[in-house]
Amino acid sequence: MAAAKPPASVVKRLVVLVSGSGTNLQALLDAIETTGTEEYGAEIVAVGADREGIEGLARAERAGLPTFVVRVKDHATREGWDAALAEAVADHRPDLVVSAGFMKIVGKEFLARFGGRFVNTHPALLPSFPGAHGVRDALAYGARVTGCTVHFVDDGVDTGPIIAQGVVEIRDEDDESALHERIKEVERRLLVDVVGRLARNGYRIEGRKVVIP
Ligand code: GAR
Repeated sequence: MAAAKPPASVVKRLVVLVSGSGTNLQALLDAIETTGTEEYGAEIVAVGADREGIEGLARAERAGLPTFVVRVKDHATREGWDAALAEAVADHRPDLVVSAGFMKIVGKEFLARFGGRFVNTHPALLPSFPGAHGVRDALAYGARVTGCTVHFVDDGVDTGPIIAQGVVEIRDEDDESALHERIKEVERRLLVDVVGRLARNGYRIEGRKVVIP
């Protein structure tokens, strides 16, 4: 008798959210294409954004992926925007949602549906330098090392359980853009590694600890 094939559902469905250039999205796309979806354990099924006309969406379109845009200004309230974003993401039935440079804080409705499976990447070593200017703030503080953090999103700003971090040294000659570029080199590799491991191995969140068996 032939050995049973593993079910196709072992390949996890990812929705990626972007607001900008989308180089982290591209790293995921490239890794999945190079490795193969079965082997990587996940496929990107859609890419969403909070604004039109960004390179992140163009990358998704070039990869032949469905895209959607949910803009805050098209909704009467922030709660309305949050519910619409949650609905647009849910339409693609994701196992994991990845915020890869998505520059909006999601609300209650989104977290009620995707809490515990919503992953963010942040360009600093949390809990230091949360928020929208993690690179600039580390530089201004005079820190000698910084880096990136991949974490689950909770209802605070960059406060959720940490999955993995990468360290980057700050050089005397660094400005925000040079430092951010070096952080992003580490960040892209970290995100690809973490998302693949979450998808293939599964995981448990025990308080503040994330366990990937
Ligand atoms: C990344 O460095 C990500 O950590 C950061 O935006 C960049 C997006 O780059 N996110 C935040 O600052 C969120 N607070 P990309 O568009 O080239 O992937």
